[in-house]
Amino acid sequence: MKQRMVAAVDVGSSKVCSLLANVDAEDSIQIVGIGITPSAGIHKGLVADIDQASESIRQSVRRAEQTSGESITSVYLGISASNICSQGNRASVSVGRNARPVRQGDVERALKVAREINIPEERRLLHVIPTQYTLDTQIGVQDPKGLHAFRMDLDTHIVTIPQSSAENITKCAHKAGLNIEGLVLQCLASAQSVLHPDETDAGVVLADIGAGTTGISAYKNGNLLLTAVLPVGGNQITRDLSVGLGIPVEMAEQLKKEHCNLAEKDDPDANEEPAVKVNFDGVGKIYKKDISDIIKARVDEIMKLVVSQLVQQVQSQSYFAYVSEFPAGMVLTGGTANLGGIRVVAQEITGLPTRVGIPPAMSGLADQLHNAAYASSVGILLCGGKNWRQEQSWIRSETGLRDKVLERVKTVRQLVPWGRI
Ligand SMILES: Nc1ncnc2c1ncn2[C@@H]1O[C@H](COP(=O)(O)OP(=O)(O)O)[C@@H](O)[C@H]1O
Ligand SMILES: [Mg+2]
Repeated sequence: MKQRMVAAVDVGSSKVCSLLANVDAEDSIQIVGIGITPSAGIHKGLVADIDQASESIRQSVRRAEQTSGESITSVYLGISASNICSQGNRASVSVGRNARPVRQGDVERALKVAREINIPEERRLLHVIPTQYTLDTQIGVQDPKGLHAFRMDLDTHIVTIPQSSAENITKCAHKAGLNIEGLVLQCLASAQSVLHPDETDAGVVLADIGAGTTGISAYKNGNLLLTAVLPVGGNQITRDLSVGLGIPVEMAEQLKKEHCNLAEKDDPDANEEPAVKVNFDGVGKIYKKDISDIIKARVDEIMKLVVSQLVQQVQSQSYFAYVSEFPAGMVLTGGTANLGGIRVVAQEITGLPTRVGIPPAMSGLADQLHNAAYASSVGILLCGGKNWRQEQSWIRSETGLRDKVLERVKTVRQLVPWGRI
């Protein structure tokens, strides 16, 4: 079976996760290298400091190289820029004066026309995702090949990013000694790794709640309906706790992970049971209920923002009318999906049955990846395996990377004398 090496670098606001894998034609993945390091210089999914961001990418890739003994030169880069825009578009092509069966060449022609869409000069195309075909007057065709038609229309979902943000992130990768095979929006990547085709057919919403952003993608009839990135995430929850309880951010982060239980709504004992007893002046006991109350307020807000995106998308007349559009409910990914009891609150606010999305089991060095926080990282590998890129012809290959790669590889060689570099 044909195998190829794919490298994914998931650049989040809290971590950079680099994965190197063997991917075969069946999308079966064997992880051979993994490097997870804290990210720096990334704020709400955007580069805020090029030196820091490129250094954290470099560190993470270097670890993946160390664990695999391979060198990484080209990567699929996952981003969650909070300033993306998305829209629908339609490309039309003629099939023939006399109706004839649609061929592969016609489909490719339609895709080419779709990718040549005019977008504002200051933006770049990130994704052009085919949603459905219309053959003459027959709408909702999934695979037009072999069907007779005079004319074919291809509906696509287009995602764009400001040129400046695109350049900043590509610059970081180049500075870290990496060429970019393609950029992938994290919430689309997560959808690839955790959504089941039955769910995307029925209608489903994915919310990837990371540290600085919440990425949303929604599907109906197997088609992508909506992508959005909100500039809120787990960092706000931590900050709320820190300010609300008057404690340092590090302690708030720990309390959030260890003592939050949003499902235990009316537990009479929760009030009596101090989560921790802190000896800072003026802090004293911290009750679990206070922790959960503060967190719940922010989770409520994030979920209401998700709902407002969905309501806008389906143009529903009443607040809950959109619920019937998504019978498969909502799937939560990202580190914040691990928040104790978040499923219950998400369900209560959105009205959608909710589950946490864990990436599929894979062979190799994959133990750590069996967590919602890595849904996007695994998804980027899957997108890489499928060559997601054609619309990103604006991405330049960086010349002069050789020295930077050699420099990185040299350090790996010193650390991994047995490596096949
Ligand atoms: N067990 C947990 N409970 C609550 N929040 C968590 C937990 N684990 C991670 N998080 C939060 O998830 C966020 C990081 O999620 P992640 O998807 O890795 O972010 P990013 O991709 O933006 O770097 C952080 O805000 C972190 O505090
Ligand atoms: Mg993320």
